[in-house]
Amino acid sequence: MRSKCFIQFCFLFLFAIQSQFIIAQKKSFPQKVDSVLRLMTLEEKIGQLNQYNDDWTATGPVTVDNDKANQIRKGQVGSLLNCMGTDRTKSWQKIAMQSRLKIPLLFGQDVIHGYKTTFPIPLAEAASWDLEAIQSSARIAATEAAASGIHWTFAPMVDIARDPRWGRVMEGAGEDPYLGSLIAKARVKGFQGNKLGNVDAVMACAKHFAAYGAAIGGRDYNSVDMSDRLLWEVYLPPFKAALDAGAATFMNSFNDLNGIPATGNKYLQRDILKGKWNFEGFVVSDWGSIGEMINHGNVKNSYEAALSAITAGSDMDMESRCYKDNLAQLVKDKKVSIELIDDAVKRILQKKFELGLFDDPFKFCNAEREQKEINNPEHSKIAREVAAKSIVLLKNKNHLLPLSKNTKTIAFIGPLVKEEKQNLGFWSVELPEIDYSKLIVTQWQGVKNKINKNSTLLYAKGCDIDGNNKDGFAEAIETAKQADIVIISVGERRDMSGEAKSRSNIHLPGVQEELIKAIQATGKPVVVLINAGRPLIFNWTADNVPAILYTWWLGCEAGDAIADVLFGDYNPSAKLPITFPREEGQIPIYYSHFNTGRPARNDSDLNYVSAYTDLSNSPKFPFGYGLSYTNFQYSNLQLSKKKIKSNEKIEVTLNISNNGKVSGEEVVQIYLRDKVGSIVRPVKELKDFAKIKLNAGETKTIKFIIDKEKLSFYNQQLKWVVEPGDFDLMIGSSSEDIRLKDSFELIR
Ligand code: GLC
Repeated sequence: MRSKCFIQFCFLFLFAIQSQFIIAQKKSFPQKVDSVLRLMTLEEKIGQLNQYNDDWTATGPVTVDNDKANQIRKGQVGSLLNCMGTDRTKSWQKIAMQSRLKIPLLFGQDVIHGYKTTFPIPLAEAASWDLEAIQSSARIAATEAAASGIHWTFAPMVDIARDPRWGRVMEGAGEDPYLGSLIAKARVKGFQGNKLGNVDAVMACAKHFAAYGAAIGGRDYNSVDMSDRLLWEVYLPPFKAALDAGAATFMNSFNDLNGIPATGNKYLQRDILKGKWNFEGFVVSDWGSIGEMINHGNVKNSYEAALSAITAGSDMDMESRCYKDNLAQLVKDKKVSIELIDDAVKRILQKKFELGLFDDPFKFCNAEREQKEINNPEHSKIAREVAAKSIVLLKNKNHLLPLSKNTKTIAFIGPLVKEEKQNLGFWSVELPEIDYSKLIVTQWQGVKNKINKNSTLLYAKGCDIDGNNKDGFAEAIETAKQADIVIISVGERRDMSGEAKSRSNIHLPGVQEELIKAIQATGKPVVVLINAGRPLIFNWTADNVPAILYTWWLGCEAGDAIADVLFGDYNPSAKLPITFPREEGQIPIYYSHFNTGRPARNDSDLNYVSAYTDLSNSPKFPFGYGLSYTNFQYSNLQLSKKKIKSNEKIEVTLNISNNGKVSGEEVVQIYLRDKVGSIVRPVKELKDFAKIKLNAGETKTIKFIIDKEKLSFYNQQLKWVVEPGDFDLMIGSSSEDIRLKDSFELIR
């Protein structure tokens, strides 16, 4: 009898265990979050809102704090940034596992355009208008970063930027909200992969929320002042696209928006992001931005700064220590409810559960996987392809390009020819253990790899990137005279654009344009490569040199990618994602401007019109501009209807023909103009595009759909509306090179 009872007890006990296990497994993430939250002290909750920089590198003003390990042991830290590699992350995570509740740390990093394999800067990738390529770039960056212990990248930066004086223009997708939104989505999908929690996925972070790119004067960290209409129509759409793509986190921005710092801006973070848009992830402040509200003059001290930020919806405090130092007191003083703290903590714990860190805090610390992924040869192959797709052909007079690989003697001149790390741009991740001289293909090496072994490649530096020393000119000129063709590689230093790198003068720096003039004077055919993180001004070069490639900063594979384009193994297909001004005096300059009451009909029309008396209104190179080694003909534009109701659609079809001798890709752009609106409407807006590949002589028919969404805009009441009236439809190879036109009417 007794043995029977024992067996029954064992059975019941096992059943109870198993059902507990099943319940535990079945528990949803929110239930798991609540089960942890219930155990936490106020100090431990505040700890989850506290993020520190690791000690070995910095991307902002450093606060010396040698007590981080102890604070982590006490559960007073929830995340570290700038902590990379499985060894280093494992060592910090082990310390976190010594804390009372063993809540794992989150490791965040600026993996902006690649981890070990550095891809082109984001503005260059945007020039590819190739969403698959852009997504694959982010996918590889995530794979390498996640394999190296990183859970979270502070990317994509989705700030619309119309002022190339602002150094961070290099980090985004340019001036247009339509293109910027599609790229934001591609990057979020790339970073987050199939599912958060997979060991090849990292959390994305849409930043900087919001309107950081509209800093007055293009001066970083400066104020932003704009109408809510402009905010909703131009600066918010890429953030909404990132959120709709599933972005796990947002980062707020340093700027004040209409007088209220974004970090303490309830309208942005609570009303829009967490309210209207129902964002369920968490918001991290930008480096020290909570404490910087004191400098803004929006709060008196760190106590008020913490109150403002947590109330406004800023969940995690990057490096300011305002939350750590003040939130407990604010709760005690009944200024901040525990519910507000709990909401922020739950958002963060939810992501730690989704990443699987509670099940295995070391799941991203596999050294073997790290070595496999950061040394995957496929990654650099793809990086080379993305880089070639990002190069914009600005000029090619008399088809000087592509060059022949059998050219007898080539002179390769300029300060960037043999540079290594300059090719990486401002936001590259640089790992101490990597020998970048072996990883980066310089421009010199790329051309050497490409040309015939019997060809001669001559070199002269000519001058520095900046400064006014011309001592190298004579040698450069002599070198040019010995050659059949001269390639000149000039531009910025990579630290001339990026964060805190605003420039009032964005002309080609130093005496580089004088070097180009001197080489051009030899009478040799000249090709100029311009390397930069922003649109530069180089009017003489643009007007006088026969061939120009804008090569941005293309990453590890720069040299081979540039050579692929120079020698025709890749036919350039990129288009500018941002307008290039003639002079700084035109800035801000962008294609989707309003017509004004007195539009200038042309450059000579100065009779009481909206124009400069000393400079053309038009840009040097317009948005959407880029040439090819072949030429494309647009024909046979057809609209399925000429009148539609708001619930109807128009099918737009047209033919694109490749009339040249080589295959190529064309970015066919469709612009609309709403002729009359209750709010004036831009003279044109990009509403769709298609990047298509055509073999020589091939013709393809492409189709676009015009629907209500593409006709809508924010009216004076900030309602997303369509209004009946006439629309112009423009199909172009750039925003100014309109090849086909038609019009249609929206009726009630
Ligand atoms: C920087 C940047 C932000 C970056 C953060 C962490 O100041 O503004 O984009 O993600 O700090 O490096």
